Amino acid sequence: MSGWTEGYVGGIDYIRAVYRDWSPALLCFALTLHGWRPPEGLRRGRFTMAEPGCGHGLTSALLAGAHPAARFEAMDFNPSHIAGVRRLAADGGLANAEFLEESFADYARRDGPMLDAVALHGVWSWVSAENRAILLDVLRRRLAPGGVLFVSYNALPGTLAHMPLRRLLVERCAEGDGLLPDRIARAVDFAAKMAAQGGGWLAGTDGVAERIEQLRRKSANYIAHEYLNGDWTAFYHADVVRGMAAAKLEFAGAAVPMEQLDDLALSSAQLALAAEAHDPAQAETLRDMMTNRSFRRDLFVKGGERLGAAERRSLLGETRFILLVAADDLPEVASTPIGRLPFPPALYHPLGEALAEGPQSLDALLARPALAAHGEAAVLRALILLTSLSLAAPTMPEDGLEERQASADRFNAAVLERHRFGDTPGQLASPLLGAGVPVSRIEALFLLAARRGTEPAAFAWHHLSADGIALGRDGERCEGEEANRAELTRRHAAFVQRRLPLLQKLGVA
Ligand SMILES: C[S@@+](CC[C@H](N)C(=O)[O-])C[C@H]1O[C@@H](n2cnc3c(N)ncnc32)[C@H](O)[C@@H]1O
Repeated sequence: MSGWTEGYVGGIDYIRAVYRDWSPALLCFALTLHGWRPPEGLRRGRFTMAEPGCGHGLTSALLAGAHPAARFEAMDFNPSHIAGVRRLAADGGLANAEFLEESFADYARRDGPMLDAVALHGVWSWVSAENRAILLDVLRRRLAPGGVLFVSYNALPGTLAHMPLRRLLVERCAEGDGLLPDRIARAVDFAAKMAAQGGGWLAGTDGVAERIEQLRRKSANYIAHEYLNGDWTAFYHADVVRGMAAAKLEFAGAAVPMEQLDDLALSSAQLALAAEAHDPAQAETLRDMMTNRSFRRDLFVKGGERLGAAERRSLLGETRFILLVAADDLPEVASTPIGRLPFPPALYHPLGEALAEGPQSLDALLARPALAAHGEAAVLRALILLTSLSLAAPTMPEDGLEERQASADRFNAAVLERHRFGDTPGQLASPLLGAGVPVSRIEALFLLAARRGTEPAAFAWHHLSADGIALGRDGERCEGEEANRAELTRRHAAFVQRRLPLLQKLGVA
């Protein structure tokens, strides 16, 4: 491990992922639901956002592509993360984003404009107390009054169950020689063997064997960055709240809107117990104990303004939503982190059909008799659930759409080109959502073929076969060019019929 990593795992990059949690429309929706005034700039697409510890920087790059009137600062001390995203930014014509190869300490010495939003994803639990103090100082100095912080962290008490697993992986990875990915694979195998023997912690703790099995399907990059850092601290929510107060930050609520629907996870008796706490941070911590939460995504505001009930209602009424799947793909029962949730067709059918037409404000939805009959609370609750489960999303306002479309088109062209070689961010920037839309490599190759006016199945096969990829059909591998191209032709027809219309509505095709 070299000196600059400050105890953070070195020699292995983080996974390439795009996260939706701090996209501006979602932040605004969550803040409004919690009764806070969202920063005006964030609502209008004119804001400054920072992402310290941005990893490969793909989320910041995508948001920059979707929000040309906003400004982004993303930084990470790992030069290979920054090199890759700078190349993407240059190819995608991003003039509004800086990707800095800096440590948190370097960044804290920098001056810059005040920030409307800061995202700390995958950082707080995985860096030292000194680095958290540096980040707090940045937040204290640079987050604008009214600004918002998104922060994720490993939470207590749920993480307690995984602490010995982390120790086991750290100990086993430190032994033996070979490359880190090989040592990680051996350490996970070793943990699985211990789990198979049972006994002690392995037998007495719910979910441990399952977590080890899940690790077998995770990349070494994920496991290294989740478990192998010198610092790895899980927090009670109340301690995070008290710590953030040093930067004048106040807890605003859960970033994932459905996490505020207490009745989903708690009985009325449990809710009554949580309500006995006068301190909201304690009440939230009691809820975490009753649900055994192991990971939190929280929003904090600095000098946030409380909305009155009428203004909150008015802002929610204006918020527009769109469906992210075809209306007939909406499930009747959704699998969620807290179990299976029914989506009764009497409400979800008309709602899905309305949202599939294009962006609809809550007020416009409630003007439809088929939805009004269910009442406002039920419709809003359904929107909270659909949004949290990535089946629907809030959109940006109509204003500025043309400018966002031009910028997203430029950025998406660069993203699509990367899918020729599998070097994939896996998401396109939607000017309507101001956020990402996931696409598979094959979908990206179909879209790229359309841009180039070339035959899609042959184009996709050319690039997939260069990587030794063959398709499957009904559990059988397609052998040879003819069978693979026939399968790609079939998939392209299905894509044109079902996915393309949706991607067009979202402005990514
Ligand atoms: C788990 S990754 C999360 C990346 C990104 N925020 C995301 O969610 O995809 C944490 C990142 O923080 C960076 N990091 C850790 N300590 C740092 C420090 N002291 N200064 C700058 N970056 C740091 C690491 O290089 C890593 O890319």
